Parts: sequence; C-alpha cells; structure tokens
Amino acid sequence: MKLLYLLPLVTSFASALWPQPSTYTSGETVLWIDGDVQVTYNGAEYKSHSYRENATSGAPTGGEIVQYAIQKTYATIFEKNFIPWKFYSRNSNFEPSNSDKKHVTALTLKQNAADPDNLVNALAGDVDESYGLSLTEEGEVTITANSSIGLVRGLTTFSQLFFKTTDDCVYTNLAPVEITDAPKFSHRGLNLDVARNFFPVKDIKRMIDAMAFNKFNRFHMHATDGQSWPLEIPALPRLASQGAYESSLTYSHGDLKELQYYAALNGIEFIIEIDMPGHTSSIWHSYPELIAAFNIQPDWSTYAAEPPSGTLKLNSSDVYNFLDTLLADLLPRAAPFSAYFHTGGDEVNKNAYTLDDTVKSNDSAILQPLMQKFVDRNHDQVRSQGLTPIVWEEMLLEWNLTLGKDVIVQTWQSDQAVADTVAKGHKALAGNYNYWYLDCGHGQWLDFVIGPSSKQYWPYNDYCQPLHNWRLMYSYDPLSGVPDENAHLVIGGEVHMWAEQTDRTNIDRNVWPRACAAAEVLWSGPKDAQGHNRSQVEASPRLSMMRERLVARGVMAEPIQMPFCLMNGTQCTLPT
Ligand SMILES: *[C@@H]1O[C@H](CO)[C@@H](O)[C@H](O)[C@H]1NC(C)=O
Ligand SMILES: *[C@@H]1O[C@H](CO)[C@@H](O)[C@H](O)[C@H]1NC(C)=O
Ligand SMILES: *[C@@H]1O[C@H](CO)[C@@H](O)[C@H](O)[C@H]1NC(C)=O
Ligand SMILES: *[C@@H]1O[C@H](CO)[C@@H](O)[C@H](O)[C@H]1NC(C)=O
Ligand SMILES: *[C@@H]1O[C@H](CO)[C@@H](O)[C@H](O)[C@H]1NC(C)=O
Ligand SMILES: *[C@@H]1O[C@H](CO)[C@@H](O)[C@H](O)[C@H]1NC(C)=O
Ligand SMILES: *[C@@H]1O[C@H](CO)[C@@H](O)[C@H](O)[C@H]1NC(C)=O
Repeated sequence: MKLLYLLPLVTSFASALWPQPSTYTSGETVLWIDGDVQVTYNGAEYKSHSYRENATSGAPTGGEIVQYAIQKTYATIFEKNFIPWKFYSRNSNFEPSNSDKKHVTALTLKQNAADPDNLVNALAGDVDESYGLSLTEEGEVTITANSSIGLVRGLTTFSQLFFKTTDDCVYTNLAPVEITDAPKFSHRGLNLDVARNFFPVKDIKRMIDAMAFNKFNRFHMHATDGQSWPLEIPALPRLASQGAYESSLTYSHGDLKELQYYAALNGIEFIIEIDMPGHTSSIWHSYPELIAAFNIQPDWSTYAAEPPSGTLKLNSSDVYNFLDTLLADLLPRAAPFSAYFHTGGDEVNKNAYTLDDTVKSNDSAILQPLMQKFVDRNHDQVRSQGLTPIVWEEMLLEWNLTLGKDVIVQTWQSDQAVADTVAKGHKALAGNYNYWYLDCGHGQWLDFVIGPSSKQYWPYNDYCQPLHNWRLMYSYDPLSGVPDENAHLVIGGEVHMWAEQTDRTNIDRNVWPRACAAAEVLWSGPKDAQGHNRSQVEASPRLSMMRERLVARGVMAEPIQMPFCLMNGTQCTLPT
C-alpha cells in the first residue's frame, strides 16, 4: 500500500464516485470481493433474485426494484467492470498484491421506513432517495435508506467502489468507506426526442440503464413531433401506422409498456410528452382535417420553426374530439409509471393560424383565449387521470396563460425564464439550451442553395453552437438568477437530446459522458461543499473513470481526455 500511496492519482481514486456524494470518507485498504458474498435484505438472507423482467400488468414493487438492483450490482461488479490502468503512471505496478487477501464478507441492506404507495409514480419530493453506506476494513457493508429507491441509489454507489484486475479478480482499494448522501434536486431528467429520428427499444433501454447509473430519476420521452408519430395509440391506430416514418419504426403498446416497466425497475419515472398544438404535423398523414398550414413549401419558416410546418387547429371540435380519444387512451397507460404528463406547448407559430379555417388570424388577442381553452381542456383531462401537467415555458411566459397552480413549467430559453416562472408561483424545471442541449454544435441540418444564402450562412453553424462540452454543462447552475425565497420551486431540471442529427448510431456518444455533468449538478448541486463552483480539476479524472464504467456496461461514451492526462495527474491543467 505504501507504493500506491506515493502515486499521484490517489486523490482522484479516493473520489471514484459519480455523482459526488454529500459526505464521503475513504481509506486505502484493499478488499477483494467474490460472488459468494452474503447479502441480507431487510433481515432475510437473500439467495436468488425474484422480480418480473417484463410486466404483464402494473409497475414493479419496491421489493422487485431492490432485487433487480442487487442483480445489477453483481453484474456491474463482476461482469461489467474495468481495469483502471489509465489512472496510474505508465509502467507502474498498479494492481494490488494477491497475497493476504481480505474480503468483503457481508452486504446488509436495511430499509428504515415503508415505501410510499406512489413509489414509481411519485411527485417530486415524495420519495426519499437518501442513503447511508458504510464499508468497514473487515469487509462488512451496510446500506441504509428510507425507501427502496434509496437502497437502489446506495447500491449504485457501492458498485462504483470496485475495479477489476488483469486476471479478472475484483477489489476495492478504498476501505474503509463512510458515505451519507441525498440528492440536491428531486427531478433529475433526460429528455429524448424519439420523433425526429427513431430509436429502437433496446437503445432506449441502454440509455435508461446509463441514466440510472448516474442517479437520474426521470426519463422524458418526447414521443411525437411534426416529422413523425412513432407512438402507437390503439384507439387511433392510423396515427402511427401512417404517421411513423416507416411502419416498423413505431413503439407498440407492448414496447411502451416494456420501456416504462424497465425505467421503473431502474428507479426512474417515465414521463410521456405529446407536444401540441405545434409540432403536430405528422397527424396530417392520418387526420388531415385536424391540421392547419401543413408542410408549406418553400416558405415553411413563416409558419414553423422547422419543416414540415403544421399545427393542430385551435378552434375545432374535431380536434377536441380527437384529443379526448387520444388522451383517454394514453393517460391511463402513463399513470402507473409517472405522476406527470407533458402536454408540450413550445414554439407555437401564430402565423400558422392565418391558414386555420377555424380561426383565420394571427392576432394574439384572438388566439390567446383559444389557446387558454385548448390547454385547459387538456389539463383537465390530465388531472382527471390523477396526473400533473407539465408544459413548456412559452405557455406561461409568452402566451400568458393562466395555468393551474399544480402545473410544472419546463423552461429552456434562459435563466430568466426560470426566475420568471417561479416568480409567478409555479414549480420550474431548468435546462437552459445554452448549457444543457446535447444536440447543439453539430452544424446546420438545413441545406443551403449555393448563392447569397449559402454565403450568409457559411460556415453553417447551428442556432445554439458551439457544441456544449461537459465543462460548460458542468458550469450550469439551475438556480442562477433565482432569489433564495423562490429556490424551492425549482424542482430540478433536464438535459435534452433533440434528435434531428442523432439516431441509434451516435446516440451513446452524443449523450455520454456529457449528460453525466448534468447528473452531478442535479444530484450533488451546482456548488461544492464550500459553496464554490465545482472544480473541473477534481471532476475530470472522476468523470473519465465514470466514462470507463459506462463503456464497460456497453455504452459507447466518448473519451474526454487522452490517457496521458489521466496517467499524469494534473499535468493537463492549464496554469492560472
Ligand atoms: C423481456 O425483458 C428482457 C430483458 O429486459 C428482454 O430481452 C425481452 O425482449 C423482453 N420480452 C418481452 C416479451 O418483452
Ligand atoms: C431517513 O429519515 C430520517 C428521518 O426523517 C432522516 O433523519 C434520515 O436522514 C433519512 N435518511 C437515511 C438514509 O436514513
Ligand atoms: C370559433 O368557432 C366557433 C364555432 O365554430 C365560432 O363561432 C367562433 O367565431 C370561432 N372563433 C374564432 C376566433 O374564430
Ligand atoms: C400576422 O400576419 C401578418 C400578415 O401576414 C404579418 O404581417 C404579421 O407580421 C403577422 N404577425 C405576427 C405576430 O406574426
Ligand atoms: C403576453 O404578455 C406580454 C407582456 O405583457 C406581451 O408582450 C405578449 O404579447 C402577451 N402575449 C399574448 C399572446 O397575449
Ligand atoms: C461560477 O459559475 C458561474 C456560472 O454558474 C459564473 O457566472 C461565475 O463567474 C463562476 N465563478 C467563478 C469564480 O469562476
Ligand atoms: C507522468 O507522470 C509521472 C508521475 O508524475 C512521471 O513520472 C512521468 O514521467 C510522466 N510521464 C510523462 C510522459 O510525462
């Protein structure tokens, strides 16, 4: 151990965890672990895992969620682990000696309070995710929590204490460990747009798995948009059969259930968004009479932020009947897996209503009461299924709608939007596009005719360039500009993966490990224990280690540095 002690990177090893726990002390004692470690769960010896992998009905129980997490902890430690050579000096003998082996002998999981009834579809703050973890030098591990989800978060931390050797043994060199931990924000989400490009179920499951490993607890599926409608609605079968890009690129009733259940098993609530009234032109393929201003070409930009233009008509009983049927089908399927339903409302283009035969105007004074009625009807229906509505910020801040006090407002355009939302008494989600949009910086996806327009747009940067690197994402403070007395209304935030230029081939590297930076801001808070901005120098090797762990579990996360930087301590730091 003396030798290890002299190595430059012992400090970063000591903080091998991502996201950073609230309090954490560790030592340098090596303990090995093998598959016969005795596990006790709430007083009973734990022998075999018993949980339903796929639901035929309902959500998983707290017990199933913990049993799944135990199985996954085994898989992470023994099968999806990595050899940490990158984190030691070149040519050093970094593996602990095999002689005098001490082992982890017992893992005890203790839940000190009953789970709430709404464990997997709880409102922000209703589930206590805190946990305590202790690993003694004698190899006894205790994880305590007040809920099943708390135990899951503790097990996730536990699995990050271990490394693999070249001959496939597994050890930690951090004993003894003492941790107390709790999230700073109760809504820690990732929004995936599955409409601009389609993502197969298995890719979304891999995303959810990686999210859980980062202690995210909300998966927001931006399920439909103007370009395609992949979500099957059994009561309106033509929506997906004609609105999807191709008939196989849909999420069937069963696919959705499989995804929702998988998220719940991982301690993640699955929030569905049907964005409306804008971003709906894919409905035209099945119900053309409901859509105004469909795919105006070439002047689409007068009527929409992106082609194809098109919006649900704003004053149409046919649209209302359609929405009644749509929501009556979908909401009961959403409710077992989430407390929320997202009704969208971003980027509504007023000019589209000049071509809406039920309105024929782009005058705010005419449109605003119609929008109020449109949203009120949707929200009443959402509430009637016991769900809480979420809307994009424009509904509150641009359309000045009067929203129910229960409505969560998802901001995206600025820090000011967060401050304005909470000033109006609403709970807010943060996620400023200048920091937390993962799609930015890949350049334009529009094509420019060679001539004046190609000259004007050269070098074809996109509206939110440059690419938001992890350091920028890590510097984002969801509470920036929010007065202390309103800070409690910021329930958390989401990082966003809009998918115009992302599909299954690049989803992993477009999201990971950059989304880890947001995960840590949301779990650990934007400031360190001293109240200072979090240190990149401290975080960087820890994030690189997290990246190795993601790769080991089959997620093709990008490297953030070359091994040289990691092998050489702080030698890639720019002097002040
Ligand atoms: C059940 O779950 C497993 C593992 O998640 C998956 O591979 C399989 O396809 C699922 N089966 C069905 C019928 O959904
Ligand atoms: C559990 O609840 C108790 C009482 O509210 C609290 O003191 C404790 O911090 C919670 N968390 C853990 C991990 O025990
Ligand atoms: C909305 O539709 C109703 C019923 O067709 C009509 O009477 C009313 O004038 C319309 N409102 C506007 C603003 O066009
Ligand atoms: C409404 O339409 C008119 C005529 O097409 C246009 O000049 C005006 O800019 C539009 N107003 C808004 C708010 O877009
Ligand atoms: C909402 O209020 C703002 C500020 O008073 C105003 O500029 C805007 O036009 C209003 N929007 C609508 C749709 O009435
Ligand atoms: C801390 O981060 C904020 C952004 O969240 C930034 O405005 C501020 O300048 C940073 N402070 C220092 C000392 O770097
Ligand atoms: C990397 O760092 C170690 C420890 O400081 C040092 O011995 C070694 O020479 C460095 N290697 C290079 C290539 O700079």
